[in-house]
This record gives sequence, C-alpha cells and structure tokens, in this order.
Amino acid sequence: MDTVTVGIVDRGYDIYIGEDILTKTGCLCRRHNTGRKAAIITNTVVSGLFLEHLKSVLEEAGFTVYTIEIADGEEHKNLDTLKVIFDRLIEFGFDRSSLLLALGGGVVGDITGFAAATFLRGVPFVQLPTTLLAQVDSSVGGKTGVNHEKGKNLIGAFYQPRMVLIDTATLDSLPSREFLSGLAEIVKYGIVLDGEFFEFLSKNVDNLLKRDKSCLGRAIKRSCEIKASIVKQDEKETGLRAVLNYGHTLGHAVETLTGYKKFSHGEAVAIGMANAAKISESMGLSSRSDTERICATIKMLGLPLALPVFPSSAYIDVMLHDKKMKDGGIRFVLNKGIGDFRISQVDDLHRLLKISGIGD
Ligand SMILES: NC(=O)c1ccc[n+]([C@@H]2O[C@H](COP(=O)([O-])OP(=O)(O)OC[C@H]3O[C@@H](n4cnc5c(N)ncnc54)[C@H](O)[C@@H]3O)[C@@H](O)[C@H]2O)c1
Repeated sequence: MDTVTVGIVDRGYDIYIGEDILTKTGCLCRRHNTGRKAAIITNTVVSGLFLEHLKSVLEEAGFTVYTIEIADGEEHKNLDTLKVIFDRLIEFGFDRSSLLLALGGGVVGDITGFAAATFLRGVPFVQLPTTLLAQVDSSVGGKTGVNHEKGKNLIGAFYQPRMVLIDTATLDSLPSREFLSGLAEIVKYGIVLDGEFFEFLSKNVDNLLKRDKSCLGRAIKRSCEIKASIVKQDEKETGLRAVLNYGHTLGHAVETLTGYKKFSHGEAVAIGMANAAKISESMGLSSRSDTERICATIKMLGLPLALPVFPSSAYIDVMLHDKKMKDGGIRFVLNKGIGDFRISQVDDLHRLLKISGIGD
C-alpha cells in the first residue's frame, strides 16, 4: 500500500493506494475519531460491484452501516438527489459524528462531499473512488458540489475528506472510455508539472492501456502527489490551482458545442491539450518537438487531437461564458516545454483558434 499525504494545514489527510485495499476500509476508518454510524453513498452501477464487500468490512470493524443508492449519471448530480440524501440521513438519525463514504466515480464523490460539507454544517467523509478520473483527480483536493440547470458545478463547497482510499482493483470493471478519461488527466499532470513523469507515461502507453497494475499504481501515485502538492499551495483555487485546467478551456468548449454527446470528457480534454500545446509553441513557450511528443502520446492512447469544426465565433461565445473568463479575455494555461507551465491572459481569441485550425 502506498500513501500520499495532502498536507493542508489543519485539514490534511492521507491517500492510500493499493490493490484490494477496500478490504482495509473498516480498520482505516476506525483510526479516525468518528461515531459508529456510517452511510455508504453509491450509485446503481457501482453498488452491484463493490457495495456488499464494503458493507461487510465496515460491519466487521464495528460500524452500523446504512446505504444510499442514487441513480447513475451526471444528470443526477443535482439538488433533487442531494435532497434525497439529506432525507435519508435524517431518517437514519445521523449526527455530526456520523461518517459518509462516497463509493463511485466523480459524480458520487462530488455529491457525497457536498452532502458531508453541508449536513449539520459538516460531517466527516471518506472518498472511495472507483473510476480512474476520480482516483487521480476528483477525489483529491476537496472540491465538492452539484450542477444547476444553468451550469455545471455551480453549487458547491471546498470540503476535504478524512481520507481517500484508492483500490486499483476496482478499475478492472471500468469501461474503456471512462478509463481513457482518467488517462487524459494523468497525461495532463506530466505535460504541465512533471516532464520526467510525462516521459514515463509516453514510454508506457501499452502497459497503461493494458491496465498493468504496477504501471498504473505508479501513475496514480505520482498523479496524486502532484495534485496534493498543488492543492496544498492553493486549496481554494485563487491562483496556482488553475494550472489543473490545462486542456480544459478548449475541452469544455468542445463538450458544450457537441452537446456533451460526441466526445467523452477525456476525449475533449485530449483535444484541448493537443491544441494548447500548439498554441504554446506558437507563443514561443515550447518547441515543435515538444508539441509532437505531446500529440504523439495523446494519439497512442487512442484519444483525438483535432478540434471539431465550428465557427470561431461559436467557440469564443462558449469560452467567454466559461467561469475562467476574466475581464473579457480568458486565462489560458500553456505548457512551457514539457513539465512546466504559464498561465496567460489571452484577449485575441480569434488568433488562438486560428493556430488550432479554426477560422480563416
Ligand atoms: N471535484 C473535483 O475536483 C472534480 C474534478 C474533475 C471532475 N469532477 C467531476 O467528476 C464527475 C466525473 O467523474 P467520472 O468521470 O468518475 O464519472 P462518473 O462518476 O459518472 O463515472 C463514470 C461511469 O463509470 C461508472 N463506474 C464507476 N466506477 C466503476 C467501476 N469501477 N466499474 C464500472 N463502472 C464504474 C459510473 O457508474 C458511471 O456510469 C463530473 O461530475 C465532474 O464534474 C470533479
């Protein structure tokens, strides 16, 4: 079992990574000073895979375990589902010492974290992420929340879990598109924050795609270390944490313009990263060979590179409505070579899109 510590003052916690560590959930939870009532919040897909096992190890450790199953899918990450969770917690007689456990991907993790942040003004919670994206990204760092009909993640709180337990065995059942979404985020860490890690990833694409446990474990651990270090320095995203949006500004535009149907999140981020790399090169921040290496790695993973064709005005409208907009332009994350970054205010969005082959 590997451990990564998120060293936030007063709210620090450990991330445990290993195969089959769900089995240890009970004894690891006992180390925390919580009550004996615990609720596992999961969804209808994940419950069939891991719920019974998790429930039994918690019961063996002395917890009285309740379960709340929510419907599967991003469309259920909303206030209606949150109300169902609150209703059940009240029904169970939960108090401020009771523990919530989020068993699932980013949707379950985000909504459970927000329920934990707000129920009785805050109860302890543990993240048990079961998608690769949740393991390397959403379960770490304390961003919790739900969507509103006017936009994604508009309602939320920064609220850190008591610990994160990453069981790499849970990835065996993950559909390939979901798996690739996580790999795109892993590659992102390498491109903007750790050149050696990028090198390791690009040399191990086959092993990663085969879900080789040792290679994957190493990639997950390094990703968590990188995210933990950024979160420690800028927990509430007042500056540095924005680096994690690399590839996401264009990626979100792609998702919005294609109605969240054509591309998965990871595919959209991959397109965003490939084009951010081209833009970085055009600004003199990186070389042609850096861009080629980034694009080659994305391609080897089987992820797309080209922006879908829409008028540049459509891209600009979407990007300006994105919450990363600042004073009319956007804050755009660029790669400096491979392994470093710069965040630049970009006002001439037409030029930026032209570099990516959009517009005339
Ligand atoms: N809090 C943050 O910092 C942060 C960061 C990035 C993304 N997010 C959020 O995360 C969400 C996306 O997370 P996601 O990609 O994990 O999506 P998800 O939670 O919808 O999971 C993807 C699919 O995989 C299924 N699944 C989960 N684990 C499985 C397993 N082990 N085997 C088989 N199927 C499994 C789920 O039921 C779902 O159908 C979005 O809501 C996004 O806003 C949050």
